[in-house]
Amino acid sequence: MRDIVILGIESSCDETAAAVVRNGREVLSNVINSQIETHTVYGGVVPEIASRKHIEAIVQVVRQALSEADRRIEDIDAVAVTYGPGLVGPLLVGVSYAKAFAYGCAKPLIAVHHIEGHIAANYIEYKELEPPFMCLVVSGGHTHLVNVRDYGDYEILGRTMDDAAGEAYDKVARAIGLGYPGGPKIDRAAREGNPEAIAFPRAHVDGEEYDFSFSGLKSAVLNYLNSCEMRGEAVNTADVAASFQAAVVDVLVGNSMKAAERSGAVRFALAGGVASNTALREAMKKACGDRGIDFYRPSPILCTDNGAMIAGAAYYEYIKGRFADIRLNAVPNLKLELTTPNAGLLT
Ligand code: KG4
Ligand code: ZN
Repeated sequence: MRDIVILGIESSCDETAAAVVRNGREVLSNVINSQIETHTVYGGVVPEIASRKHIEAIVQVVRQALSEADRRIEDIDAVAVTYGPGLVGPLLVGVSYAKAFAYGCAKPLIAVHHIEGHIAANYIEYKELEPPFMCLVVSGGHTHLVNVRDYGDYEILGRTMDDAAGEAYDKVARAIGLGYPGGPKIDRAAREGNPEAIAFPRAHVDGEEYDFSFSGLKSAVLNYLNSCEMRGEAVNTADVAASFQAAVVDVLVGNSMKAAERSGAVRFALAGGVASNTALREAMKKACGDRGIDFYRPSPILCTDNGAMIAGAAYYEYIKGRFADIRLNAVPNLKLELTTPNAGLLT
């Protein structure tokens, strides 16, 4: 079969990203324009500002992705874009741009689910990896334990009942004065702390043993900080970070391994921004190793939001001949179980 080269565009949150990927797995370019510095002063992503920043950046980011890949528009077989879930304004920038690009250059358009993109980052990192496998997707907006039955065929085994794992990291980081984005900062601070210093709760959801809940843990950290303040005791930030992280990692690994053992999974993958977390990667690697399960995790550059994962996921739609049309819209609360708007064969 001839090579299929896809341009992938991602703008669901605070990264304007575009990448060119060959045959779903070979990254020819991967340009990420992060807005982190802009949002840091506000302590989190401001959707309206994010939308404007995407508009400012997207043309240049796509141009750079094509030029770094040494490809012209004519060399591209399809343009793929994240259409949900995410922030509606930021999503609309990417979707509108991709639709205009596809229409103007007469290229097929492929709609990609953001979580499906995160999962596909593993295909880029591991050229030999194929479904079925189990995947824990942990990001700023999502915590999903997914049975990847086939390309585009997902069974959700567990999800968060409240905060996403990354959201909990970001909120706790703010509370202990580490600032935004919290995940990497807690990860770093925790290396200097004692994970057993404070016994934070490991929440389990009654009756739904693979589900997660992080809001109680977040409250426990806030209560701990308040009680220290009331007693006039100094807070050891590194110990709080390490103890909080240990509680998150315990629950993520515990539920994941329970699900993997019961379903007889032989392959387990991490995905999403929190998959960069050092403690989570180490604990999951060990837990999988102890059970004889092969462990996969993308490089940090592929864990964070990027266009390569979107182009990677789109490839499997392309080979099935499934494309979106010009009516494609952003879907901020898109579910993973829903079928994509890529329909039928392009004629
Ligand atoms: O996947 P992502 O880039 O965007 C979303 O789709 O949400 O994930 C961003 C999230 C943020 O909450 C960030 O704090 C978290 O991933 N994160 C981390 C680490 N790096 C990023 N959390 C824990 N440890 C890290 N090293
Ligand atoms: Zn993401």
